[in-house]
Amino acid sequence: MIEKTEFPHFMLKEIFEQPQALERTIVSRVGLSEGEVRIADEIHIDSAELRALRRIHIVASGTSRHAGMAGQYMFQELACLPADVDYASEFEYRNLPIGPEEITIVITQSGETADTTAAQRLAKRKGSRTIAISNVPDSTIAREADGVLYTNAGPEISIASTKAFTAQMAVLFLLAAYLAQVRQELDRENLREWIRELLAIPQKVRTVLECSELCRKLAEQFHRAEDFLFLGRAIHYPVAMDGALKLKEVSYVHAEGYPAGETKHGPNALIDEHLPVVVIATCDPRNAGSLLRYEKTVSDLQGFKKQSAKIVALASEGDREVSELADHTIFIPQAPELLAPILEMIPLQLFAYYVAVRKGLDVDRPRNLVKSVREE
Ligand code: AGP
Repeated sequence: MIEKTEFPHFMLKEIFEQPQALERTIVSRVGLSEGEVRIADEIHIDSAELRALRRIHIVASGTSRHAGMAGQYMFQELACLPADVDYASEFEYRNLPIGPEEITIVITQSGETADTTAAQRLAKRKGSRTIAISNVPDSTIAREADGVLYTNAGPEISIASTKAFTAQMAVLFLLAAYLAQVRQELDRENLREWIRELLAIPQKVRTVLECSELCRKLAEQFHRAEDFLFLGRAIHYPVAMDGALKLKEVSYVHAEGYPAGETKHGPNALIDEHLPVVVIATCDPRNAGSLLRYEKTVSDLQGFKKQSAKIVALASEGDREVSELADHTIFIPQAPELLAPILEMIPLQLFAYYVAVRKGLDVDRPRNLVKSVREE
């Protein structure tokens, strides 16, 4: 029997469990001094096959698919492997050929989602090996996969997925780093640096959780808004998508997650003083690509400000430029761009939670939803 303990809802408890959940996901799978990721025994696909890989297919539903979208950037950047990401429910309609040098990664909290199970079975019929990322031990999807990486986030009771999502991103990072190790895309020193950064994430999540009261105040201010736009570029786009999904499912507020650069291709027409815009504007100054994206995001913010938008920004610790443009800023500890989404997600989960509480909704069991969708 799992209890809420001192928390009023499971969702809040699970948000606050993320530091320990991430430690369980990460710590036993890495050797810092050796600069090594140790997941060979869980994957059950030999190194020669992993070295020959040319492409990855990712299938998942809902929040798990958003983790897959973040994973896409990790596989490309660390292991130089292109990945495509599909909605499990759409996978069969694409009739995608899967070649011998390709694998399929199936991501799921419950391990029982019918669309995802069907997509996994189809991938297997096409001759693909599959690796499951599951939070539930011995679930259907885990049993049917060649290899399983458990997220170890612990039971997730709230229908809105929180700690499973950040643990999924951590597992995807471990898998991408492992593939880079096997394929010799990263040397030991580089791997050691990435492992050091990954190990620092749980403690940074503890720091981000301190913004809980600020998120509650923002929810108090914005709970009457009927629409929200969440924007992010590159790996921050799936975070924007999941921030919008959390708000939709627990607060019944219409919210859209959009790639920041796409706003000028349509949604900009919506942006005025009535539409709150949540912008992920963090920056990793050691990464040239991140700096470039940051400058573009700052320019977006300047445009939104001219349109009188109400801007809530997520910015890197100490960033004055963004905080002067935004109406409200939530600061995120500095982290490499590939790991920042784990930190960025926390305030968006808290914001959705507090809006739902403010509206008096059944936070853990939103209407019309179930924890695990077992019918296609
Ligand atoms: C997440 O907050 C949702 N409740 C939902 O989108 C969920 O992620 C989706 O149904 C997939 O579930 P799974 O991870 O258990 O396969």
